[in-house]
Amino acid sequence: MSTLTKLALGAMGQLRPRPVKGDARKAIKLPAPDRTGGLPLMQALARRRSAREFARKPLPLPVLSSLLWAAFGVNRRGGGRTAPSALDAQEIDVYVALSDGAYRYDAKVHSLRLVAASDLRRVTGYQDFVDLAPLDLVYVADHRRMRMVPVAQRESYASAAAGAIAQNVYLYAASAGLVTVIRAWIDRSAIADALGLEHDQQVLLSQTVGYPKA
Ligand SMILES: Cc1cc2nc3c(=O)[nH]c(=O)nc-3n(C[C@H](O)[C@H](O)[C@H](O)COP(=O)(O)O)c2cc1C
Repeated sequence: MSTLTKLALGAMGQLRPRPVKGDARKAIKLPAPDRTGGLPLMQALARRRSAREFARKPLPLPVLSSLLWAAFGVNRRGGGRTAPSALDAQEIDVYVALSDGAYRYDAKVHSLRLVAASDLRRVTGYQDFVDLAPLDLVYVADHRRMRMVPVAQRESYASAAAGAIAQNVYLYAASAGLVTVIRAWIDRSAIADALGLEHDQQVLLSQTVGYPKA
C-alpha cells in the first residue's frame, strides 16, 4: 500500500491489518538463540546502517530467535536483559508482526505469544516497505512497570530503553547479514488498536528487519 493511501486511511482511522492466510499459532516456542559467533563487535559497528529495501524472504525461526534474544533477551541469572532500563523496570515489550500473526516476545521463556491473528505489518508505519518485509517490530512502553520512575521522566526513559533495544537489533542485523531501519513515522493509535493495547501501554517506535533486496 502506498504512503499516500496509508496517510489517507490513517487520517480516517481506517488503517487496518490484513487477514492471515490459514491459522495463526497461539504461541511459538523459539529455539535456543545462538549466543556464540557473529561478527566481532567493531566490524558489526562498521556495518551498522539503515536500509529501506527488503527481500520478501521470511526469517528462519533460528534467526528470529537469535534476533529477539539480541534485542531484549534474558542474558544472565536473575533475569537481566541485553538492553538497559531505568531502575531495571524492563518496561519495553517487543511486539513481533509477521505475515501469519502478531505476537508479544516473552523473554523469560523465550517464546512468542499471539496477540492478534492478523497480518498487521502494513499498520506498523506509513512507509510502503513495511507491508512486505518479513518482520516489523513494535516497541511498546508499559507504564504500569514504571511506577518508581517520576511521571515526567517516564516517556523519555522508556524511549531511551527502546533505543538501546533498537541498536541491539541494528548490530545483530549487521552481524547476521540482515538489514533494518528504526522508524518513528508511524500511526500510534492504529498500531495500538491493532495490537489491542490498553491505555497505559504506549507505542514508541517500530523497526523493520529482513534480508537485503537482491
Ligand atoms: C528516533 C528515530 C526515528 C527514525 N524514524 C525513521 C522513520 O520513520 N523512517 C525511516 O525511514 N527512518 C527513520 N529513522 C532512521 C534515520 O533516518 C537514520 O538513522 C538516519 O538517516 C541515519 O542513517 P543510518 O541509520 O544509516 O546511519 C529514524 C531514526 C531514529 C533514531
